[in-house]
Amino acid sequence: MIKGPTGCGKTRFVEAMAAKAERPLVTVACHDDTTATDLLGRHLVEGGDTVWQDGPLTRAIRQGAILYLDEIVEAREDVVVVLHSLADHRRQIYLDRLNETLTAPAEFMLVISFNPGYQRGFKELKPSTRQRFVGLSFQYPEPAVEAEIVAQESGIDLAMAKRLVAFAGKVRNLQEFGLSATASTRLLAHAGRLMHTGMPPRTACHVGVIEPLTDDDDIRSALQDTANLIL
Ligand SMILES: Nc1ncnc2c1ncn2[C@@H]1O[C@H](COP(=O)(O)OP(=O)(O)O)[C@@H](O)[C@H]1O
Ligand SMILES: [Mg+2]
Repeated sequence: MIKGPTGCGKTRFVEAMAAKAERPLVTVACHDDTTATDLLGRHLVEGGDTVWQDGPLTRAIRQGAILYLDEIVEAREDVVVVLHSLADHRRQIYLDRLNETLTAPAEFMLVISFNPGYQRGFKELKPSTRQRFVGLSFQYPEPAVEAEIVAQESGIDLAMAKRLVAFAGKVRNLQEFGLSATASTRLLAHAGRLMHTGMPPRTACHVGVIEPLTDDDDIRSALQDTANLIL
């Protein structure tokens, strides 16, 4: 169970771990219409016949892959029910349409992620679900590391990447703006890529970081003033 703000590297981490472990990775981006059927599979009509098609969860179990359920809290309640038998000692799912019980092989791994700060009202992961996982909390990397990441991801030089990270540090400290999200590593990499194509740094910061963060005129101009001092 990986927790952390958007754009801090959760998905990238899982991709890197899968590559390192040389395991196939099956990723599902969950949303509020994601149902158990979407994950398990369904019968499809194919020219007069009905054929069963495995969903990503079933496929991942059969392959012994790493299954990554991104933004798990968004998914429908029935998804969580399926996960319960899978994520405890049983390691099983029941496919009622096929009347088949599938047991996960030892290589199968389940990773879930979510953003704990995100306002989602009543949507929260239940204790009975959370307690089936081991947990890791992610934050934005420390400045020196983040600058290296931004330079690497975007192709800009380290000195400019450090300035972008310094700008992000200021934005992250501006709690009083009540921004629902803040300048993530993802946004810094975006701005860096724009600079790498030749866009002036202040403009890149404006369209790559500030506009994606807020629609409020006053906050936008305050953030731009901050950017102009650093870049
Ligand atoms: N810690 C990190 N290491 C490497 N790249 C990162 C990191 N954090 C963010 N990025 C960059 O930002 C992009 C989005 O990161 P991602 O892993 O999708 O974030 P999350 O899943 O936490 O929302 C990545 O494609 C990468 O370019
Ligand atoms: Mg992600």
